[in-house]
Amino acid sequence: MYDLIIIGGGPGGYMAAELAGRGGLSVLLAEKRTLGGVCLNEGCIPSKTLLHSAKVFDYASHGAAYGVYTEKATLDHKFVVSRKNHVVATLVNGVKSLMRASKVKVVNGEAYIIDGKHVKVNDEIYETKRLLIATGSAPVIPQIDGLSQGIKKGFVLTSREIFELEEIPERLTVIGGGVIGLEMAAYFNSAGSKVTVVEMLPKIGGPIDSDISGILLKNCRQKGICFELSARLTGITENSVIYDTGETEADKVLLSIGRKPVTEGFGLENTGVAVRDGAILTDRYCQTGVPDIYAAGDVNGKYMLAHTAYREAAVAVNHILGKPDIMRYDAIPMVIYTSPEVACVGETEESAKAKGIKCETASVPMRMSGR
Ligand code: NAI
Repeated sequence: MYDLIIIGGGPGGYMAAELAGRGGLSVLLAEKRTLGGVCLNEGCIPSKTLLHSAKVFDYASHGAAYGVYTEKATLDHKFVVSRKNHVVATLVNGVKSLMRASKVKVVNGEAYIIDGKHVKVNDEIYETKRLLIATGSAPVIPQIDGLSQGIKKGFVLTSREIFELEEIPERLTVIGGGVIGLEMAAYFNSAGSKVTVVEMLPKIGGPIDSDISGILLKNCRQKGICFELSARLTGITENSVIYDTGETEADKVLLSIGRKPVTEGFGLENTGVAVRDGAILTDRYCQTGVPDIYAAGDVNGKYMLAHTAYREAAVAVNHILGKPDIMRYDAIPMVIYTSPEVACVGETEESAKAKGIKCETASVPMRMSGR
C-alpha cells in the first residue's frame, strides 16, 4: 500500500515524487519511457542546448562588432546533437539520483488505472491511498491531406524527431509560429537551413504582446527566416507544404501547431475524473473532482510549461500533506529562447483589455541600456 502513486515521470511527476518522498510519504512513480519526460528528453532541455550552440555560433560570427576576431566560425550540427545527448543523459541521471534520495520507488513500465486505488504496471497491481496523474501532452496532429503519409516517410517531423536529425536540411518548413516553431526556426536558421514559417495567425509567438511579437518578427526576418502569415496548413505532398495562400517546397517539415493533454490509454475512464476539452479538470489545489486524485502538468491543459508543472506538483503535494497552498495562474513567466529572447509575465495589453481591465502602457527601448 503506497501513500501516493504518480503516473508520469516528467517535471510534474518527478517534482511531486521528490516532494512527497521528502515529506515522508511512500511513493511509487511509474514512467513508461525515460525519467524527465518531454522537458528533459525531447523538449526544453534539448532545444535549449541546441539554441545555446546557435548563440555561441552567432557571437563567434559577429564578434568583430565587439573587437573579437575569429577565423570563419562553423557550426558542427553532429557535435551539437551529441552534446545535447550528453546533457540530456546527465540530467536524466540527476533525476534518477533525486528519486533514490527521496526514497521513491520508480517502476519503468506503462501504468494502467484499475480504479482510484489500484494501478497495474508490468502485470503487477499496486495499491495506493492517492493518485497523481502527470501524463503530460503530445503534439497535435490534425487530419490533413498527406500529413500521416509525410510523417510515416520521415518528411514531416514533430518536436520529438527533429532533435534526432543528423543532417541540417537545406530547406526546412516550420508549420506553426508558436514557441516550438520559433525556437526551432531560430536554431536551424543559424545552422544554415533556409527556413520558412507557416503560421495561420497574422502574428507570431501566440499570446505574447503584439508590439513584442512585431519586433521579434522583424528580427527573425533580418536573420533570413521567411514567414507566411495568415496561412493555414491544408496539405502535404511528397516535397511541399500547402497552405490556403500558397505552397512551399521543403526537404524537411516541422509540425508544431500545439500540444494536447494525454488523457487516454491509461484507464483514466475508470476513475470518474472529469475531462473537459481533452484536459483533466483540476481545482486550485490541483485536485480533480474525485477525492484523492490529483493532476499536475500539461495534462490539465492550462499552461504547458515545465515550471508551471513544478509549481502544480508542489501545490498538490502540499495539499496532501495538509500544508496550506493554492495554485495561481495570474503571473506565470514565459520565455521564448529565440535571438533576441522574449520574456513575458502576467497580462498583455490585449488580454487586459479583453477582460475589461483598465490599463496603461509604457515602453522603454532596449538601446537605453548601454550594455
Ligand atoms: P503553440 O500553441 O505555442 O503554437 C502553435 C502555433 O501554430 C500557433 O501560433 C497557431 O496559431 C499555429 N497553428 C495552429 N494550427 C495551424 C495550422 N493548421 N496552420 C498553421 N498554423 C497553425 O504550440 P507549440 O509551439 O507547438 O508549443 C506547444 C507547447 O509547448 C506550448 O504550450 C508551449 O508553451 C510549450 N513550449 C514552451 C517553450 C518555452 O517556454 N520556451 C518551448 C517549447 C514549447
